[in-house]
Amino acid sequence: MRHKVTVVGAGNVGATAAQRLHQLGYADVVLVDVVEDLPQGKSLDMAESGPVIGSDGTITGANSYAETANSDVVVITAGIARKPGMSRDDLLLTNMKITGAVTEEIVKYSPNCILMPVTNPLDAMVHNILKVSGFPRNRVLGMAGVLDTARFRTFIARELDVSVEDVQAYVLGGHGDDMVPLVRYTTIGGIPISELLDADTIESLVQRTRDGGAEIVGLLKTGSAFYAPSASIVQMVESILLDKKRILPACVSLEGEYGVNGLCVGVPVKIGANGVEQVMEIKLLPEEQSALDSSIASVKELVDVMENNS
Ligand code: APR
Repeated sequence: MRHKVTVVGAGNVGATAAQRLHQLGYADVVLVDVVEDLPQGKSLDMAESGPVIGSDGTITGANSYAETANSDVVVITAGIARKPGMSRDDLLLTNMKITGAVTEEIVKYSPNCILMPVTNPLDAMVHNILKVSGFPRNRVLGMAGVLDTARFRTFIARELDVSVEDVQAYVLGGHGDDMVPLVRYTTIGGIPISELLDADTIESLVQRTRDGGAEIVGLLKTGSAFYAPSASIVQMVESILLDKKRILPACVSLEGEYGVNGLCVGVPVKIGANGVEQVMEIKLLPEEQSALDSSIASVKELVDVMENNS
């Protein structure tokens, strides 16, 4: 039997993720949106690509949740996308309501699924979705770190004119302007980045990574990034469905790790059939810990705003 993956939100990120998942061929996909006919139209179009791309997986669209029953993984992209000039934080309360309502419906039909929030502001949405679902923390993991890391890897690979595949990097903390690219753990073919690039160049790549989402918004003008986000979603979904146990950064609720309790932030985790199978705790230098602490403080501010408005 094929796996079943639901993607909620048939906009740019959701539909592109659905297309990539359909292309894998080993999962049936349900695409849900509030807009009538939109998910049906997009999924029919994708289904009709099946014979060409060689995918036997089914893909269907829906405006309600019965069709999502017994999903293994549910990706939540529903929400309002960031517009130019709008900060992630402006989206907070609207997207809190949307993701909360979506989660209530999803858990009714798929009480055993693994939830993958993507809607921004990401860390706050993971917090909200974890709370509304009542799921254990291993079954709620947000996608942001893979994307942030992919941006950092892209910029490093371009700078050094090397394969993106040989660049390993980690970005910790919130998916915000104060995310923490861990330069010390960034390697190129196993060689520490500090051996190959000077500190100023590294800092400029770090800054470009922090501004990565805004850079795309500035260029697109009418929307935010979706090709790299959807690819990142699929890497995480695949690690669950194939029980690959990949070590990837994801936004999860911490229970004492990194000195954090009950807040959701990006950390390296092992992702397998049970969702988050291990939180990898790496020793941080004092300056790294303090950068992580200030990123965590920004996430806490958002959580406080949500708690005062719920
Ligand atoms: N239920 C289901 N779908 C909804 C709901 C809801 N309650 N509310 C909104 N949607 C749908 C919209 O109709 C739209 O099709 O969510 C979709 C969002 O798509 P886009 O506006 O294209 O946004 P997108 O670029 O896909 O980004 C989605 O991911 O990366 C984040 O910041 C991004 O939060 C944003 C999310």
